[in-house]
Amino acid sequence: MQVSSAYRSAFAWSVGGSQVLGLTSVVLTGVWMGHYRGGFGWDGSEREFNLHPLCMVLGLVFLQGDAILVYRVFHQEPKKNVKMLHGIIHLLALIVSIVGMVAVFDYHRAAKYPNMYSLHSWCGLATVILFALQWVMGLSFFLFPVASSRLRATYLPVHAFCGLLLLAMAVGTSLLGITEKLLFSIMSTYSKFPPEGVLANVLGVLLVCFGVLLFYLITNEEYRRPPNPEEESLAVHFKTLTEEGSPSEP
Ligand code: HEM
Repeated sequence: MQVSSAYRSAFAWSVGGSQVLGLTSVVLTGVWMGHYRGGFGWDGSEREFNLHPLCMVLGLVFLQGDAILVYRVFHQEPKKNVKMLHGIIHLLALIVSIVGMVAVFDYHRAAKYPNMYSLHSWCGLATVILFALQWVMGLSFFLFPVASSRLRATYLPVHAFCGLLLLAMAVGTSLLGITEKLLFSIMSTYSKFPPEGVLANVLGVLLVCFGVLLFYLITNEEYRRPPNPEEESLAVHFKTLTEEGSPSEP
């Protein structure tokens, strides 16, 4: 299907808008933790905790969102390259998220706080575990295909659905974390609209807008990658080889 020019410009504006929202969210998290909460460090103090929100918003929200978006943005590139980019950005997201998780657990250990008592921490751990699982499954099914083409075709919609679900879980978990942090640190003044509280609330709204815009870009049929006859014929060839055995096999 030919994408009309109105759709193309709506697409460009939406992609640009998503990047502005995502980057502003990362910067606001940095300003919140850097300016209002004492900055960053790796010494078991509050400064180590401060790396947690920054890494989670950068890794599990912004980078994860962009890793999904590459399939819509790089329409014209060979699918193999786009898959590789998708995998690399996801790997970066995974590494940054692991740093953020180690920071919060290490901070809790140093301060002798209990672990995993809050709704935020339960949702957060579930999100990170599912994210790691999705990465390993994606790698083995699509980047280094170990499964038959029929199994891959069956798993693809599940993989795509789980990708969007994980993004929604990451945004939801971040909202819980933002509220919890505000209640821990400025409970007595929160209702008086202090700048820190307003900044953190704005951060939450931007994260939701980023998630909604990504959902729109990913689920809109008009923005899907058009089928490429050359890739299709290669896929059929590959399917024949994997499902019926190579010509040299008995
Ligand atoms: C998708 C993003 C996030 C995930 C997966 C996540 C995950 C987690 C986990 C698993 C813990 C428990 C650590 C422990 O028990 O030792 C935790 C703690 C915490 N996180 Fe997050 N987090 C995320 C984003 C955020 C954000 C954006 C904030 C905002 C400031 C935040 C604030 C907190 C706070 C205050 C704690 C300590 C209290 C508690 O254990 O609930 N988190 N997070």
